[in-house]
Amino acid sequence: MKKFTTVQDIGDIRDAVREALEIKADRFAYSGLGHNRTLLMVFFNSSLRTRLSTQKAALNLGMNVIVLDVNQGAWKLETERGVIMDGDKAEHMLEAIPVMGSYCDIIGVRSFARFENKEADYNEEILNQFIKYSGRPVFSMEAATRHPLQSFADLITIEEYKTKARPKVVMTWAPHPRALPQAVPNSFAEWMNATDYDFVITHPHGYELDPRFTGNAHIEYNQDKALEGADFVYAKNWAAYTGDNYGKVLSTDRFWTVTAEKMKLTDNAFFMHCLPVRRNMIVSDDVIESKRSLVIPEAANREISAEVVLKRMLQSL
Ligand code: CP
Repeated sequence: MKKFTTVQDIGDIRDAVREALEIKADRFAYSGLGHNRTLLMVFFNSSLRTRLSTQKAALNLGMNVIVLDVNQGAWKLETERGVIMDGDKAEHMLEAIPVMGSYCDIIGVRSFARFENKEADYNEEILNQFIKYSGRPVFSMEAATRHPLQSFADLITIEEYKTKARPKVVMTWAPHPRALPQAVPNSFAEWMNATDYDFVITHPHGYELDPRFTGNAHIEYNQDKALEGADFVYAKNWAAYTGDNYGKVLSTDRFWTVTAEKMKLTDNAFFMHCLPVRRNMIVSDDVIESKRSLVIPEAANREISAEVVLKRMLQSL
């Protein structure tokens, strides 16, 4: 595997889940594979889970790991070609990226949507420069439009906990005080659409996602109706995607918060969220603390999804 940025890059998802569960049963089975190989993790944005789980996955495989926080201690990077660099940015990505590539064998990149320019965000301008100029296999640690390591971990978690061949999975928008990117919901939709689950998306009017990600998923604007009979409730906030509202918060209506009352509408569903989560905005304390909450196992599976991706990349070097 030379690139991991979308669900297509993982190939057959049944094979990928099988491989993930094998690795989970013996996560040190390939501890010699990464000997004398170096992973560079480049962060343009904050992280807890991605940083720790990906580093742990690399260590399981015997790799060396370097972490670069671009905003702490590195030169401020210019991303646009053609600009006169007479401002505060001391280095251009066009030099920085191949230099980074010269110190490692595989690169992971975290670079969120900036909400300044929808086209630039949706063209993944930062991530694609790493793919083009690093000379190394590149994987996304959450980019502007997708978070595939998260979605893969979500899929592994659903496969572990499902009790029906075709569970009903409901992704619901929930309120948040700040504008959050669409990467997690886009990606979750993309991965769920690659399964044969009954997949439903619910959100207020104005929060429609890019149809390239939602595909044929059933969109239901009535959250209570969407939750009826759900086996898994996947909560997430995102800012508006459509038109001039791109990147805006249109609602903080706590009617959409996932509460115990809302969960009663489901078929005793499991609750999922990628974390970090704003309690009592996205989900009530009692739901996230309940026995049906999968937020911790879901986060733990981030180590497994990252290990599958790194293993495949090491095998292709
Ligand atoms: N879910 C997730 O990616 O968490 P972090 O932002 O903490 O890495």
